[in-house]
Amino acid sequence: MVMTMTYKNILTSKEAAGQADTYIGVVQLNRPTVLNALNTELMTELVVALQEMDRDESVRSIVLTGSDRAFAAGADIKEMSDESTVSIMLKDNLAIWDKVKNIKKPIIAAVSGFALGGGCELMMMCDIIIASESAQFGQPEINIGVIPGAGGTQRLTRVFGKYKAMEMILTGRPINAREAYELGLVNKVMPVELYLEEAKNLAKEIAAKSPIAVRLAKEAVLKTFDGTLSEGLEFERKNFYMLFSSEDQKEGMKAFLEKRKAVFTGR
Ligand code: CAA
Repeated sequence: MVMTMTYKNILTSKEAAGQADTYIGVVQLNRPTVLNALNTELMTELVVALQEMDRDESVRSIVLTGSDRAFAAGADIKEMSDESTVSIMLKDNLAIWDKVKNIKKPIIAAVSGFALGGGCELMMMCDIIIASESAQFGQPEINIGVIPGAGGTQRLTRVFGKYKAMEMILTGRPINAREAYELGLVNKVMPVELYLEEAKNLAKEIAAKSPIAVRLAKEAVLKTFDGTLSEGLEFERKNFYMLFSSEDQKEGMKAFLEKRKAVFTGR
């Protein structure tokens, strides 16, 4: 295991992935006394570490994990409890979370214990999720008078559909690993002793593939989740209107009205 840079709130390492000069990156959230509550310092370090691994050509895929007791119990409530709308908007601390979604290499989340609030949201920014039997997932923000702020309303709804997402977000009740598996939130549930190993093995399997194909595959899958229905409809309509400057549109519509087969030229 090759140790890389040292941080205050995370541990990072590189593990050989089987082929020469090919590694997986491993990032462990490490604020055990507060169940890996995600404060700004931790998130900043996490983004720096992930970006460094993204740049390092010998790293082919990344595992993101916490401890057996907690992947992360949410954004750090202490850090934000005294904020006002204006102060929290000016600081815009959650903006840095978006950078996790821009990492090009696949990130496999190895999740045990609490994955709550921002912890669940960070997990959902990853590409494959391996859970331990003790994992529990939830968006309990409603219990502290707020709502998910780092993608929970969007990503959970895309996974579960409206009704289950609504139930979880409005009641704040967590679900266990088995339920999460059945609902399609996690790829696999493993005994606590094995979930991290399983995630690493998966990362190593992917590390053996063509890095450029892996990158473009991830990008293409994520495209499905990009943008809203309104944006999609607007895009579609503009392209529809644009075609009215083509000869093929004139020919196609004319041919229909004249009850003959159209001859298209691609102009
Ligand atoms: N922020 C800050 N500190 C946290 C924390 C969080 N999200 N979650 C846990 N901690 C701290 C506790 O305050 C406690 O610290 P002290 O020992 O100094 O008192 C320590 O971690 C251990 O926690 P508990 O004693 O509460 O442990 P428990 O086993 O009794 O309960 C728990 C575990 C159910 C996860 C409980 O800690 C809990 O409910 N945590 C908060 C969960 C939550 O509401 N998350 C959402 C945060 S808001 C958010 O994430 C917004 C967003 O979308 C970006």
